[in-house]
Amino acid sequence: MLSKVGEKPHAMGASRVWKKKILRFTVVFCLVASFTFFLWPQIEYRQPATDTVSNITISSDVKCEPDLDVLHRLNVQKLKQYTRREIIAVPSASDTLPMRQKLPISLFEQKQKSTNSPDRLSAQQLQDDCMIPEPVSVQVSTPPRHVDASHIDFGVATTLGRLNESLDAFSHWAGNTKTRIFALIEPDKDKRTHEVQAKADSLGVNLYITESDEEYQRRYFTLVSHLGKNVRPQTRWSCVIDDDTFFMSMADLVKSLAEYDDSQPVYVGGLSESIPQIGVFGLMGFGGAGVFLSRPLVQEISKPEIFEACLNTDHTGDRRISLCVYQHTFTRLTVNHRLRQLDIQGDVSGFFESGRPPPLSVHHWKSWYHMDMAKLSTVSNLCGDSCLLRQWEFGDGWILTNGFSVMKYSKEVDPNDKTMELTWEGQNGAVHESFLHALGPLRPKDWDKFSYLLEDSALDGNQVRQWYVHRDEEKGDQILELIWRTG
Ligand SMILES: *[C@@H]1O[C@H](CO)[C@@H](O)[C@H](O)[C@H]1NC(C)=O
Ligand SMILES: *[C@@H]1O[C@H](CO)[C@@H](O)[C@H](O)[C@H]1NC(C)=O
Repeated sequence: MLSKVGEKPHAMGASRVWKKKILRFTVVFCLVASFTFFLWPQIEYRQPATDTVSNITISSDVKCEPDLDVLHRLNVQKLKQYTRREIIAVPSASDTLPMRQKLPISLFEQKQKSTNSPDRLSAQQLQDDCMIPEPVSVQVSTPPRHVDASHIDFGVATTLGRLNESLDAFSHWAGNTKTRIFALIEPDKDKRTHEVQAKADSLGVNLYITESDEEYQRRYFTLVSHLGKNVRPQTRWSCVIDDDTFFMSMADLVKSLAEYDDSQPVYVGGLSESIPQIGVFGLMGFGGAGVFLSRPLVQEISKPEIFEACLNTDHTGDRRISLCVYQHTFTRLTVNHRLRQLDIQGDVSGFFESGRPPPLSVHHWKSWYHMDMAKLSTVSNLCGDSCLLRQWEFGDGWILTNGFSVMKYSKEVDPNDKTMELTWEGQNGAVHESFLHALGPLRPKDWDKFSYLLEDSALDGNQVRQWYVHRDEEKGDQILELIWRTG
């Protein structure tokens, strides 16, 4: 009995265990099935998730794995959209391509899967990669092979640290062109000039560094006689620049200077774009735009009696040059409207997106506004200087201004409209009319323009990658990566 009693419960226990096991199995099965059912779509259409390692929030709209290194470099905390597109630069036989060209295709809207080239990655793979499958072909001018600027010398007064920082930008226009840059720097306590010299050499920039303990404004003016002393047989122009003066294209600069008679004393420069600045500083070649003095003029004002008299006046460097020329010679300023002081600040998009012939020089890009000119010009390695700031207007209304932005106006702008959008602010009470003499015709700012601005670019093998970013702290940043190659 006891054993039976003892057995019975045992037997009963066994069947209960089985029932429990089946029940558990059923519950677990249901749970797994329902988890699979409910979670599956969420794996495919990712919820906004913060990558715990990188701390970057990535929206579910992003349908690919973006490169976290790129996001870190761009300082993106929240990403809403990442799109990539290939651009093929096709050299054109014509060297008179219009600044803005229309393209029949859309920039962002995806076409149906392309079928033209079988060796292409599958559409799915490309989509995984955020790449719009169809590349865009654009026409570019064939760049000139060599630019010989050995007849132009540049002079800059700065510090060693700032000179070092300027070299990447200098290399765009001065590298491998046989031009020379003479730098008068403050004495460097750390004895690191040779490092900067080595960097310049590696970039193909002929840099001559001289230390000078003169005060800045005197050092600046001393550049004139320093350049005068260093002329060589082929020298025809001496040019005084600021360390943030940037030339878009040495080929264009050489071509433009060739229009002046440099056998005569000539003083070529750019005015401020803002009348109040001209009121404050004078009618002169503004230093940031680059001040060009022909060889006869440099020699004239480098004569010791003139030079000493001018050196001891009490004006800022560029003004001292102008007053010296006006007081001691009969030469007057010849304004070249493509030499740009750029006395504009904040949002300068209207200037760069104007679609007009590009400036010869730009300035203030590290201070009054921020647009890294070395990064803007990276793409010239692939399509030449003449494709910088060129515009392509896509079928969906987006406009690429090469190296600067990808944007869409809130209202369509008449293609024949010649005005420049006044987006910037000025100083010293500048108003609309203050800029007309230099930048007119002007039109009011489009406050609802949607813009991606260039924030980074890199030469990557025989491709150039550009990252255009639309910042939005709330909704997250949107990135458009353009990958340039030659056709
Ligand atoms: C992640 O971001 C939050 C706020 O955005 C910040 O408080 C936190 O320190 C960050 N963590 C790391 C590891 O960077
Ligand atoms: C020059 O700049 C580089 C970074 O581009 C830096 O590593 C180097 O220390 C700088 N040298 C001097 C002398 O400032």
